[in-house]
Amino acid sequence: MTEAQKTLDRETRDRLVEEIAARVGVRAERGRRFAELTSLRVGGEIDWVVVPETEEQAARVAGALDEANVPWRVLGAGSNVLADDERHGYVVLTMREVKGGARFDGEKVSVSAGYSLPRLCVDAARQGLSGIEGLNGIPGTVGGALWMNAGAFGHEIGNVVESVRAARGGEVVEVPGTQIKWDYRHTSFRDGELLLGATLRLVADDAEKIAARMEESKRRRMETQPHGSRSAGCFFKNPPGSGLSTGRMIDEMGMKGERRGGAQVSPVHANFIVTEGKDARAADALALAEEIRERIRRERGIELEYEVELWRGGAPDAETADATQKGGAADEAAKED
Ligand code: EPU
Repeated sequence: MTEAQKTLDRETRDRLVEEIAARVGVRAERGRRFAELTSLRVGGEIDWVVVPETEEQAARVAGALDEANVPWRVLGAGSNVLADDERHGYVVLTMREVKGGARFDGEKVSVSAGYSLPRLCVDAARQGLSGIEGLNGIPGTVGGALWMNAGAFGHEIGNVVESVRAARGGEVVEVPGTQIKWDYRHTSFRDGELLLGATLRLVADDAEKIAARMEESKRRRMETQPHGSRSAGCFFKNPPGSGLSTGRMIDEMGMKGERRGGAQVSPVHANFIVTEGKDARAADALALAEEIRERIRRERGIELEYEVELWRGGAPDAETADATQKGGAADEAAKED
């Protein structure tokens, strides 16, 4: 491919993105960086960020991008993503504005993907509905929580999902929760799938008891996890089925407080990598993470799996971006959830 063709191709892609955004009536922005859109506050430039405000718009945009063969990925609150420092040559479909309100109907609640998970936990508690109070304090969106089956303090979102709304062929379709596999920080949703919202089935309980459980999980979280710092939650999964805690293993190796550039192993919980300062780079966090993996491999013979998603940029054009990126919220190579 010649340089001229590459330029032309990128122009074509840009024109297509602009056309699609105008047709669906959504904002399409240039010049944004992952450093602004993720909780770790690092990561490079993004060619296009598209901002739907309703589930229908999000479904239409995703369908149109697929049809036009424009690679895209979906981002929620960006609280479980480490995007590298390169330029990212794909469209980021941000679901943050697809919020609406939480719609309660008896013990059920319907909510859109961009709705804040902590806010939903508070709403549910106020309604006297139990089932997600342990998730309070996970700083993500409902969509992100569904995608990875977020969990904490004995609650996992997958346990209470009645159905998920997903985008298929530009339309909103309803997928029963029973058709989805909900594993530890992993689901059967596939790259290319866009989650738009869900209906959860909760259980009526005494509002005060729910509030007390919520307070308790918040207290434990505040005691054992860093707060107010730039993190992506736990960086690695606990080794499945082993009963081992990755945080404890990293702690036992004496790595708490260890720094690489602007990244640090949290002194509070060793499975959190936090970033500091305006010069922090994704490469710092990655270098630290790989060093942890290497030492755990050497000293414990365990291969740690990333719990955060690693998003790789560096594709010079939309056309040459890795096919696995298309529509995916996860990086297969890094093993997501
Ligand atoms: N521990 C240490 N040092 C540390 C961290 C932990 O000794 O630096 C010890 C603790 O004292 C405890 C044990 O390790 O005895 C387990 O620690 P913790 O209770 O914090 O649980 P975890 O397995 O490290 C998991 C989830 C968290 C979730 C908490 C509470 C994973 C990878 N992590 O942490 O989820 O909030 O349980 O339910 O499954 C996340 O998904 O991002 C996340 C933070």
